[in-house]
Amino acid sequence: MLSNKTVLLGITGSIAAYKMANVTSMLKKMHADVHVLMTKNATNFINPITFETLTGNKCLVDTFDRNFEFSVEHVSLAKKADILLVAPASANVIGKLAGGIADDMLTTTAMACTCPLIISPAMNTRMYENPILQRNLETCKQFGMEIIEPDSGHLACGDEGKGKLPPERLLVEAILRRIRFEKDMAGKKVLITAGATMESIDPVRYITNHSSGKMGAALAQVAMQRGAEVTLIKANTTCEIPYFVKVVNVRSARDMFEAVRAVAGGMDIIIKAAAVADYTPAQVANEKVKKADSDLSIPLKRTADILGYLGENRRTGQVLCGFSMETENMLENSRAKLTKKRVDMIVANNVKVQGAGFGTDTNVVTLITKRSCEELPIMSKDEVAGRIFDKILSLKQGDSEDEVVGTKKEEANEEVTADTNAETNATDTNVEETVEDTKQETAAKES
Ligand SMILES: Cc1cc2nc3c(=O)[nH]c(=O)nc-3n(C[C@H](O)[C@H](O)[C@H](O)COP(=O)(O)O)c2cc1C
Repeated sequence: MLSNKTVLLGITGSIAAYKMANVTSMLKKMHADVHVLMTKNATNFINPITFETLTGNKCLVDTFDRNFEFSVEHVSLAKKADILLVAPASANVIGKLAGGIADDMLTTTAMACTCPLIISPAMNTRMYENPILQRNLETCKQFGMEIIEPDSGHLACGDEGKGKLPPERLLVEAILRRIRFEKDMAGKKVLITAGATMESIDPVRYITNHSSGKMGAALAQVAMQRGAEVTLIKANTTCEIPYFVKVVNVRSARDMFEAVRAVAGGMDIIIKAAAVADYTPAQVANEKVKKADSDLSIPLKRTADILGYLGENRRTGQVLCGFSMETENMLENSRAKLTKKRVDMIVANNVKVQGAGFGTDTNVVTLITKRSCEELPIMSKDEVAGRIFDKILSLKQGDSEDEVVGTKKEEANEEVTADTNAETNATDTNVEETVEDTKQETAAKES
């Protein structure tokens, strides 16, 4: 992810300094060339040897250290840096950065950097709320530095309040967001749906499916890293949710429909990767359904067809993409869905293929558009997400033979309705509307 990228980490005298060992390790696993710069006070909190071992590079503390290969280190590092993250940033170092003071290796290097500079303050709440500190942060912002707001919670000094260093994963994501990709999706509003809906049977039981939300989360993350403004509407997920995207939590297919409908009009690209139940209990019992000696049947009714609704109501130029999870006749069923739902692209996968489907970190997909059908080899969901957006951008820009499908008013003569009970195609098994899961797995979870 970060091959050929040079990341500088500036660590200052804060109790949170130890967390940067994990950040360093995460960045190394992404193949970044990591260099750590510590203030002298930071070395009271964590030993530089830790970072030297993790990075394979000398940890720089003293500007006038003669014990290294000769070059004017602060300048050469600043020249090759793709990004500098100062975390945890002490009140003292923030003051220096705001005031243009360069009296140690970290602040001198920061002064020489032209790459993006991110500051993640961490300190006691009283220090954080001090108007001088706030003014200094404002000054840093005005000079183009990015400030990551600290978290609130229990602080090391025993106080409760704002000033905690955010989770390591957020700090890494802040770096990825700035340097991983070119911003070829800047200015685009993207809506992604993810996860498995939960359809209540009674106050303690529900019907759901195996979706982890990983594919949708990967799509949201990649779009955000490519510069898009991302909204992620998510039902139940068991995966990590990316930072720096707007998250809307929903539970049922009906909630998902309402949430999508509320924002769809303002979106440039919509990708429906959620596993939405096609059927929901006709009635939700107010009390827990009691066990009896006889068998039990639960009548189900159709849920709203979200993709059908979007195809019917989209504005010109909006790109719509659905997922199709099949167990047989994948291409045929997916092409039918493309036409029927009036969408631009279907990402088809077969849950029976090894490396594809629910819960895995990989997927094996075929990208189907009006005029093309591209079978991709097994790849990570992160890579699949990238390929999906490459294809979508080519559709939008007219680079390929495909064109964005027009609105109903412009071209269609097909009837697709969003009516809850309108859709009866029993072969239409897909991720977005997981008929098979809900039908086969009506096995309700009992608490
Ligand atoms: C145990 C301990 C924890 C500290 N934690 C923080 C902190 O989280 N944030 C902060 O701004 N200062 C903290 N300080 C104070 C700084 O270490 C102090 O202001 C120091 O001069 C900062 O030096 P530096 O900015 O050169 O690293 C702490 C001090 C001690 C003794």
